[in-house]
Amino acid sequence: MYRTHTCGELRLSDTGKKVRLAGWVQRIRKFGKMTFVDLRDRYGITQLVFAEAINQRLDQHPLNREYVIQAEGRVVERSNKNPHLPTGDIELLVEQFEVLNEAKTPPFTIEEETDGGDDLRMKYRFLDLRRPPLQRNLWLRYQVARAVREYLDEQGFMDIETPFLIKSTPEGARDFVVPSRMNPHQFYALPQSPQTFKQLLMVSGFDRYYQIVRCFRDEDLRADRQPEFTQIDCEMSFVEQEDVLHIFEGMMRHVFRRVKGIDLPNPFPRMSWEEAMWNYGNDKPDLRFEMLLQNLKVRHKLYCEALHQTGFGVLDQAETVMAIVVPGAATYTRKQVDELTEWVKRPQIGMQGLLYVRCLADGSLKSSADKYFTPDRLAQLQQFCQAHPGDLILILAGKEDKTRKAAAELRLEMGNRLGLRSKEEFKPLWVIDFPLFEYSEEESLPGSVGRWVARHHPFTAPKPEHIAQMVENSPLILPGTDYQDHPYAKIKANAYDMVINGQEIGGGSIRIYQRDLQEKMFTALGLSAEEARQKFGFLLGAFEYGAPPHGGIAFGFDRLCAILGGSDTIRDFIAFPKNNAGRDVMLDAPSPLDEAQLKELHICLRKDQHEN
Ligand code: AMO
Repeated sequence: MYRTHTCGELRLSDTGKKVRLAGWVQRIRKFGKMTFVDLRDRYGITQLVFAEAINQRLDQHPLNREYVIQAEGRVVERSNKNPHLPTGDIELLVEQFEVLNEAKTPPFTIEEETDGGDDLRMKYRFLDLRRPPLQRNLWLRYQVARAVREYLDEQGFMDIETPFLIKSTPEGARDFVVPSRMNPHQFYALPQSPQTFKQLLMVSGFDRYYQIVRCFRDEDLRADRQPEFTQIDCEMSFVEQEDVLHIFEGMMRHVFRRVKGIDLPNPFPRMSWEEAMWNYGNDKPDLRFEMLLQNLKVRHKLYCEALHQTGFGVLDQAETVMAIVVPGAATYTRKQVDELTEWVKRPQIGMQGLLYVRCLADGSLKSSADKYFTPDRLAQLQQFCQAHPGDLILILAGKEDKTRKAAAELRLEMGNRLGLRSKEEFKPLWVIDFPLFEYSEEESLPGSVGRWVARHHPFTAPKPEHIAQMVENSPLILPGTDYQDHPYAKIKANAYDMVINGQEIGGGSIRIYQRDLQEKMFTALGLSAEEARQKFGFLLGAFEYGAPPHGGIAFGFDRLCAILGGSDTIRDFIAFPKNNAGRDVMLDAPSPLDEAQLKELHICLRKDQHEN
């Protein structure tokens, strides 16, 4: 037997017991004829004491960091207790030990805090994973998965696996593809999600499906995105939006209660997509703080009279002017405001500049454009924004989309700077009533300026009252017309996102389940009947064999874990993640294939221009 106890287990009540522990040597300290060793495993750390007799054996078989050893002896009370360790009241007086395996000196310290840089730790991920913070993260991930299964099993959901080698599923990203040896010149795609499969399972009658499943998307990476990530993927039959929202906010409440002991609100607040865009500038509002966006002018329509013909070109010509009121920030120094101005000018934000109005404690107002802002105008502006003495009004002006996005980012940034985005506070909500379509100016259809793409995916149902609007109108956006005036711009979907603390944690929709409506949807997206048949013939065919009304949702499992663990990056909650360039630096993947393998796959590599 290698061990009788784990390294996190022994307490004062165990003193006198003869025990055997096994683990990794974290630290070695010598004091005269005594040696102290911190022995670590995933349960904790126990101090081993090598007293004089056995210490001599240590000289013959010296230990080093990360050696795997087994030690036997008696549990004794420590004279010098360590209140920071659960095992800190005792130590193991070693009588015998054995080195089970030696270890090279690790490239970084394997402790709570480490001296290893990101790249090095990624290369030696198996060592980094020995560190307590990462052990805690993976434990949390496992707890979340358990709580999810517990709830869904209880609700009658069935876990069903779906294939990974499939035909492309349209979720908006690029596919990863896999060549087929047996079918020369043909490729499988890895699923961006099991979307079509779960819908087919509904046609098969499995009316409550779920899967904690890997998804693959070839897209640009960010802190909250990985090329392979995990979804909690769910689908239900004979449901309306209300049923889906009810079941899945219940799941989230269960997970938070189980894993964090926190009660989320019942029910979750809801907000329409339009309200979210208007007040927060994006479709994933962070409700931990207010600081709502003030819409002074939107697409040339004036809402705040203070901006009427100011004579200041930046404001008068701007399509949109927005403001935020930063509470208590009127005392910001010139330097602080200049620094904020630089912040909004960064390429990621892309604004030309930032105007401000200080609402001073004595009630007076001082702006950065006093030449144009008369006292009357300033008072009007203050009133419109409901700013109080002591507040700072920040104003952005420019093109609608860019300005709204910038104002949303500035709001979050100010939230950070004022410490209003605590990781201990959780504010969930549903964003509902999404538009069915999104305008894309990058692609076009013949005779159209730009085109419509599915905002969620092409299987999402329009709201019943908007179906006619879709069916009766052509998708073409005629030259000389504004896409916002097109009837498709107003069509709303039965689609919903769950947002927590400004992050999209999950998204789903009620689906189309009638063949003719699905075909009309494909037409609206510019797919010819032939293309639709070629890409989605299996689904259209299935809809002819009695498809039930259905709907579902998928949650970003890694994101959920990161939020629960108080981290901004999902990488910390994935055992073997990719780096920002999509590489696994430990495996050194992706990597070239040798000639024989390529030949077998019938692949001949093209020399790209950049290689010449
Ligand atoms: P969607 O594309 O919104 O919906 O994805 C669902 C959730 O998955 C998470 N997510 C990601 N997490 C990490 N890395 C990524 N690259 C990544 N991409 C998405 C997000 C997101 O909310 N089939 C539909 C769901 C449905 O309609 O039922 C779908 O995949 O948290």
